[in-house]
Amino acid sequence: MKKVLFVCLGNICRSPAAEAIMKSKLRQLGKEREFVVDSAGTYGGHAGALPDERMREQARCRGYVVDSRSRVFYPSADFPEFDLIVGMDNQNVADLKRLAIHAEERGKIVRMMDFFPEKTPYQEIPDPYYEGPEGFELVLDLLEKAVDGLLEYLQRNE
Ligand code: 4NP
Repeated sequence: MKKVLFVCLGNICRSPAAEAIMKSKLRQLGKEREFVVDSAGTYGGHAGALPDERMREQARCRGYVVDSRSRVFYPSADFPEFDLIVGMDNQNVADLKRLAIHAEERGKIVRMMDFFPEKTPYQEIPDPYYEGPEGFELVLDLLEKAVDGLLEYLQRNE
């Protein structure tokens, strides 16, 4: 059993999309029972809200149902619970590292684009919140491949 938590700022755009894409790919591989996949935000201001409608719609066009409710990242519960805590951008990773008390907690924090399986100028999943539709498409393009890389990593380290 592997437990993976995706983390962005608001938990209404990037990390719920990563969660839905990961769950969809695991389902296709027949491996959904081997994983727990969740998402959270470092900022709790959208807690309880459904994901951003722009993200839901564009993900729906690709066959993903993005419908998890936003929640804030809880250091005392989430650090012990999850094996891998995946920040979407450098700020998310820095915020998570600041919240980590023990080295073991810090060691669980990784950056999503570090799993991207190709050469790319992108080191982060860019925040699409103030962008147009192309910002959301870019997030989905990057996430689909980064999740593939993450799945390969998890299989290699089983
Ligand atoms: P997310 O996007 O971190 O990908 O969920 C954002 C959502 C909300 C805000 C910023 C980014 N906000 O400023 O409220």
